Amino acid sequence: MENERKLEEFQQKIDANIKIEPKDWMPEKYRQTLIRQISQHAHSEIIGMQPEGNWLTRAPSLRAKKILMAKIQDEAGHGLYLYCAAETLGVKREQFLQWLHEGKAKYSSVFNYPTLTWADMGAVGWLVDGAAIVNQVSLQGTSYGPYSRAMVKICMEESFHQRQGFEIMVQLAKGTEEQKQMAQDALNRWWWPSIMMFGPHDSESAHSNQSLKWKIKRESNDELRQRYINKTIEQGHHLGLTFPDPNLKFNEETKNYDYSPIDWDEFWNVVKGNGPGNKLRINHHIKAHEDGKWVREAAKAYSKKINLSKKIA
Ligand code: 3HC
Repeated sequence: MENERKLEEFQQKIDANIKIEPKDWMPEKYRQTLIRQISQHAHSEIIGMQPEGNWLTRAPSLRAKKILMAKIQDEAGHGLYLYCAAETLGVKREQFLQWLHEGKAKYSSVFNYPTLTWADMGAVGWLVDGAAIVNQVSLQGTSYGPYSRAMVKICMEESFHQRQGFEIMVQLAKGTEEQKQMAQDALNRWWWPSIMMFGPHDSESAHSNQSLKWKIKRESNDELRQRYINKTIEQGHHLGLTFPDPNLKFNEETKNYDYSPIDWDEFWNVVKGNGPGNKLRINHHIKAHEDGKWVREAAKAYSKKINLSKKIA
């Protein structure tokens, strides 16, 4: 009875758009869903630094290098906010990283694709960050307080990322024939993985119904996917590039772009670890974590010394 009453009060808070805070009572399943989603979101931000880091030393100008460096540093900060938000649910960061390294936690499958040319820096910023913005603007309204507040800060920085990517695409698409081909090749390779970022169709989504009821999600996978497609097609036309989908067509009735069926075999194959970059991404993350062990130990030792000297003083 007690739990039923608490669950009722909890749902009333959700329905009244009252934010749930770390110390509030929450259903265990609500907590577990947030632990899963926020930590995987954080993993995505950190792993997402790798494909772009691949081009830092090969940026075509000092200006391009500075912008890319700033973007990658932003992603590290996004990961930090999100791990801090996830830790408010009672799980330590080390545990999240262990689950990631053991293959028990996911990150966005889009980051398992390689960045082959400088045009990929444009396509990733324009499409991947563009998709992330649509998803994250919606998540600003999520019912869990720390997650919602982290999203507000992240969204401000994310729009810079999308613009820096689009600027690269404009430079290349309006450049020489060879540069335009580079931009078209990058669009061909990144378009479908960016659409898959929104997850399975609503009918196939394991978590959406409950996440929408608890306002963890404010809009469904397909609603956000469609918004991203509608917005991005218009931008692509400005570039004079062709989207790799012959069935893309504006539907006067629905006022949406219709698109070809998504290759869910490709999606699940990459999610299951068989993408072109899965092993590279995880092994790099594990090595970087091991290489950074001495830094974490030195920081812990130093903070112990400071606390000790405060106690003695
Ligand atoms: N990549 C990998 N796995 C995915 C996925 C994707 N793109 N989309 C869905 N999945 C997984 C889910 O994690 C879930 O598996 P799990 O139960 O083992 O966690 C399963 O597929 C079923 O999918 P659901 O739609 O039912 O799962 P969710 O309700 O969690 O919805 C989501 C998926 C829409 C991605 C949601 O988790 C979400 O909004 N997450 C927060 C946003 C996020 O993580 N964005 C990733 C990109 S971060 C980024 O873009 C960085 C930027 O700087 C570029």
